[in-house]
Amino acid sequence: MSDKAILKIGDKEVELPIIRGTLGDPAIDITRLRDLTGHVAYDPSLANTAICKSAITFVDGERGILRYRGIPIDQFIEKPNFVEVAWLLIFGRLPTKEELSRFSAKLTENELLHEGLRLQYQHMPVDAPPMAILSAMLNNLACFHQQLLWVGDEESLEAAAARLISKVRTIAAFAYRRSQGLPFIYPDPHLRYCANFLHMMFSLPYKQYIVSPEVEDALNLLFILHADHEQNCSTMTVRTVGSARANLFASCAAGVCALWGPLHGGANVEVMDMLERIHAGGLTPEECIRMAKDKTNPFRLYGFGHRIYKNYDPRARILKDTCEKVFAQLKVQDPLLDIARKLEELALSDPYFIERRLYPNVDFYSGILLRAIGIPKNMFTVCFAIGRLPGWIAQWREQHEDPTSRIVRPRQVYIGPVEAKYVPMSERTAAT
Ligand code: ACO
Repeated sequence: MSDKAILKIGDKEVELPIIRGTLGDPAIDITRLRDLTGHVAYDPSLANTAICKSAITFVDGERGILRYRGIPIDQFIEKPNFVEVAWLLIFGRLPTKEELSRFSAKLTENELLHEGLRLQYQHMPVDAPPMAILSAMLNNLACFHQQLLWVGDEESLEAAAARLISKVRTIAAFAYRRSQGLPFIYPDPHLRYCANFLHMMFSLPYKQYIVSPEVEDALNLLFILHADHEQNCSTMTVRTVGSARANLFASCAAGVCALWGPLHGGANVEVMDMLERIHAGGLTPEECIRMAKDKTNPFRLYGFGHRIYKNYDPRARILKDTCEKVFAQLKVQDPLLDIARKLEELALSDPYFIERRLYPNVDFYSGILLRAIGIPKNMFTVCFAIGRLPGWIAQWREQHEDPTSRIVRPRQVYIGPVEAKYVPMSERTAAT
């Protein structure tokens, strides 16, 4: 197969190299396109553009495949351990026993927040959105760990990663406690990663929250399923900010802002709102599907559709199965799961969704699972962010270690006035 593409513009022909990875679509290398042709490429949402070479995560959206460092996502279901997966993503291979226990010890060492950071919560409105707090506090970590603003070697990267991955739980749980008017519960060094987060969320000063193994496993799995997803919107944001050589804390804080959007990680809250509305009788599943198809209505069937997956999102499949399993284990029932199943059934048999190949994505069932293990709705996207943090760190690291990496600075097709004249205020009308 040719390793060159020929581009013809008028009479001129230019050859563009083709880059092949180990898997996935080959790419036409257009890095010299403007030099060679005087043209730029137009791809507004970057749907056809590979922005980097990456060895972290592989997604095949046609076949519904997701692999972390080559390992299929299904292989993490049986004995889920989020900390191990975080290490795998960041450092490129599964940790040895010693490496895992060293990293876990670093997480324990770093689980407390600096008092200065803790006191900042008092100045936030009680009803502040936890995603706003999360982004602000992650960025704020840069003020308290200035020795890690420049991460040049593996040791300092591990130190920065441990601070972020550990403290994000404390930051998130404190945001929730503040919203409830409850005292902060400090981390317990004897608890594992997920159990510690649940403890900080739900223990009381006089009563320890007892974490059931089923709930701990479910949260571990949910974090793992969110841990990385190659070049999605928030990861692209982390890379864009990082491309300016911004520090890891600032880059991850920017990722949180992108993730918050309802078309991205914020969709898990939208799904829950939709299911609750149907359950309350304000909407039927059939009306929901009709509204989603109506192009004059901005409503979308949240938790459905994906830029890359044109098949069932493997994360949604695992989450759906996990919901059934956890509900049986905890002996709980939730009418919202039945509504979600009904919506899925209607959508998957409707020509609109079939023709556009719209399937449930990771956000369709995640909220139902989080609700079953007691996580309140305003913390759903925060839990997504806790899960995604290792992926952002891994991608930031990969970019910083790539000698060919340059600042992200795209071009545009300008469509404004060719040249205009400054009009003094006294002569201005609405039309000028
Ligand atoms: N409901 C109704 N119609 C939809 C939906 C949906 N959920 N998703 C896509 N479509 C329609 C589009 O309007 C478009 O219709 P058209 O061809 O008539 O114009 C068609 O399907 C194709 O859309 P895409 O180009 O595949 O969508 P795009 O890649 O731009 O957007 C996105 C992907 C944002 C995820 C979209 O599917 C969506 O809005 N889904 C709902 C929000 C959601 O669940 N987001 C979470 C995604 S997963 C994640 O980020 C973690």
